[in-house]
Amino acid sequence: MNRRSAPQGRIAYVDGRYITHSSASVHVEDRGLQFADSVYEVCAVSDGLLMDEEGHLTRLERSLGELSMEMPMPRSALKAVMRETMRRNRLKDGLLYLQVTRGAYRRDHLIPQRARESLIITARSIDPQTYEMKRAEGIAVATFPDIRWGRCDIKTTGLLPNVLAKTKARRAGAYEAWLIDSKGLITEGASTNAWIVSEDNVLITRELTANILAGVTRAGVITALSRAGINAVEERAFTLNEAYAAREAFITSASGGVIPVVRIDGRSVGKGKPGPMAARLHSLYRELSLSEARMGQGNGARTTG
Ligand code: PDD
Repeated sequence: MNRRSAPQGRIAYVDGRYITHSSASVHVEDRGLQFADSVYEVCAVSDGLLMDEEGHLTRLERSLGELSMEMPMPRSALKAVMRETMRRNRLKDGLLYLQVTRGAYRRDHLIPQRARESLIITARSIDPQTYEMKRAEGIAVATFPDIRWGRCDIKTTGLLPNVLAKTKARRAGAYEAWLIDSKGLITEGASTNAWIVSEDNVLITRELTANILAGVTRAGVITALSRAGINAVEERAFTLNEAYAAREAFITSASGGVIPVVRIDGRSVGKGKPGPMAARLHSLYRELSLSEARMGQGNGARTTG
């Protein structure tokens, strides 16, 4: 199809074909559907630029490797398919979703010896104002026990605990759920990394272990900070009480960048409104990611812990 005849409406990519979003599907025996035997990435697109592309692809490759799966195609080919999906969807601002499943087989818990993986890519436009409003007002979080498995560093589609926690948070009037481990320490958000700023202005976020996802945005923020000569970052677990007493708190993710948290479990954080650190970090991170995206790079080797 040539550029002039790009179709209207949403287009999905499934295993080598670009098809209308409404008719895109996988097989009923797909192992992603039956066992969550699949991994994914969510990349932000801002002003037509793919943000932190290398970081997301590096993490995708790592997630696949941890499950003895392979990249469905060479990275350069995948980048071309991602761009073609953006083009066909006229995606200027929004999200690109990639999922690699182990493929369709007769249902059996054993991992099949010979994999014929499926690659799915979808695109969704999002008005950037949606997140700018959250950045201006700040969000509330509610905390719940972390009941996930022991390999949260692998970005699998096994997200039921995250889904349940986020839904409970919304019902409690909060935007995001923060998950707490058995020792009373915050692990991360349901779909974001969690940060606090201590009374003496130290930025604290949990160190990278198997208990959390190594956020690409988290890594971008840390790099942007060190390039700005700010070395006040402590990668360590923090308690709920530390979070309640924090000067500021915020979440990071590809979709929203840095978003300030102004309430935790109904208690105000700091002055109960977005603080200067979150705003500064968002602009430092965004500047770095945009400039890397313009150069066709993007948060390269910074994503695995
Ligand atoms: N979520 N922690 C979890 C559990 C996540 O699912 C995500 C991403 C993050 C932040 O990672 P990153 O900065 O690479 O987006 C942390 C994506 C956006 C999602 O599931 O929609």
